[in-house]
Amino acid sequence: MIMRRPVLLVVDDEKTVREMLKMILSDSYEVLLAEDGQQALKTVETQQVDMVLMDVNLPGMDGLKALELVKEADQDIEVVMLSAENSAQQAVTALRKGAYDYITKPFDSEDLLSTLKRLSDRLTLKTEVDYLKGELKVKKGYGEITSRSPRMRVVFELINAVSQTSSSVLITGESGTGKELVARAIQSRGPRRDKPFVAVNCGAVPADLMESELFGHEKGSFTGAHARKIGKFEYADGGTLFLDEVSTLPMHLQVKLLRVLQEKSFERVGSNIPIKVDIRVMAATNVDLEKEVRKGTFREDLYYRLKVVPIELPPLRERREDIPLLIHHFLKKHAMAFNKPVPGISAEAINALRNFSWPGNIRELENLIERLVVLSRDGREITYEDLPVGMFTTDIDGYPKGEARNFREAVESFERHYIIGVLNKTNWNKLEASRRMKVHRNTLLLKMKALKIKKPKSLNR
Ligand SMILES: Nc1ncnc2c1ncn2[C@@H]1O[C@H](COP(=O)(O)OP(=O)(O)OP(=O)(O)O)[C@@H](O)[C@H]1O
Ligand SMILES: [Mg+2]
Repeated sequence: MIMRRPVLLVVDDEKTVREMLKMILSDSYEVLLAEDGQQALKTVETQQVDMVLMDVNLPGMDGLKALELVKEADQDIEVVMLSAENSAQQAVTALRKGAYDYITKPFDSEDLLSTLKRLSDRLTLKTEVDYLKGELKVKKGYGEITSRSPRMRVVFELINAVSQTSSSVLITGESGTGKELVARAIQSRGPRRDKPFVAVNCGAVPADLMESELFGHEKGSFTGAHARKIGKFEYADGGTLFLDEVSTLPMHLQVKLLRVLQEKSFERVGSNIPIKVDIRVMAATNVDLEKEVRKGTFREDLYYRLKVVPIELPPLRERREDIPLLIHHFLKKHAMAFNKPVPGISAEAINALRNFSWPGNIRELENLIERLVVLSRDGREITYEDLPVGMFTTDIDGYPKGEARNFREAVESFERHYIIGVLNKTNWNKLEASRRMKVHRNTLLLKMKALKIKKPKSLNR
């Protein structure tokens, strides 16, 4: 089912060996390179890697140790070991530590290719099953939250710890980073899981209606109050009240909210009978609340009352290793929703999406994937060409936007678009990009200089 090319990480301390292996293997695999065990580990932790080809004799951490740690980081990654001497002992140890196979140097490139082919055939078969397995794992764990990023591990730990308590939680993060998803995960893992989860979008309700929205009102308490209304606080009793965009809450309601949180009781508008409630409050914001406090638009005491446990969600561009994972997750999710077969996606397209900055974060990625699934023709792989034109050029600051004013600008804009497109597809590997463009590397470098194309800083992480 999976149609992208397998990603193979080559680990060897000799540059010439790395380059040679890359040449031999690039036709069949997306090749990544590392020169020692540390680098290899960093790569498997931060990028999608399916297979590793690793020299046994590495400086520092030796290959067998690195093998062990790679398997520890992700046991689904298959490793083939390479060694200069024909040592049966090392081979046995490597296999015992979970290596798939063992090849001795000097090797015959046909042998190497056929071993890797056997392995990748197996991987291709395995991925669909794993996907289902992974999905089950995720369902049991953190709702829909899909991630392998170390930055999100912290979030998972917080979700775990805090779900067993009733402490207030303040979730911060840019728009579309999954704040509501996290709030729901906390609720669903704790003792309140069967109780209501009531979300109020503080920004969407007009300020003068907000009070009765939250606390309800009695009939006749103000013009237009024709009947009694039950507020969100009452609905949420026993469960969770999720205050989304809490920064937009008007000042007088901030005062009232603080009092309710402290006294655990409130009155409906137009009534003086206190109603006791047992509520856990979680709040979310995509602005810097501390700044709002300094500006005087958000009460400091309420801020601290809400921020008992702060959870900060990193933007997607700071956890790019999740992008391939999320792509597959959403392909599957929306294909199921539309009752279509799950489309494959090319490695080029994944690379390009991985290198995009995603200002709208996961929501933006999900919307795009949904659109691609809707437009996909059954069984055809999604390729780079299917991605929205211009997505990648308009992404980079400092370039003239809008229509070209003359012929030269039009040509430049075309060139820039083409070059950035190829660079994104090749993960900004200029040599590889120039090869694809069929120009000399220097020509590409000159063009990049003339057009002021630079690798976006955010990709250097
Ligand atoms: N880690 C994740 N794995 C899978 N889906 C995710 C993940 N994070 C977010 N999503 C999905 O992305 C979308 C946006 O998430 P959510 O509504 O929780 O974000 P938000 O931070 O509340 O955004 P906003 O600030 O725009 O309200 C949802 O459809 C959600 O299911
Ligand atoms: Mg939200």
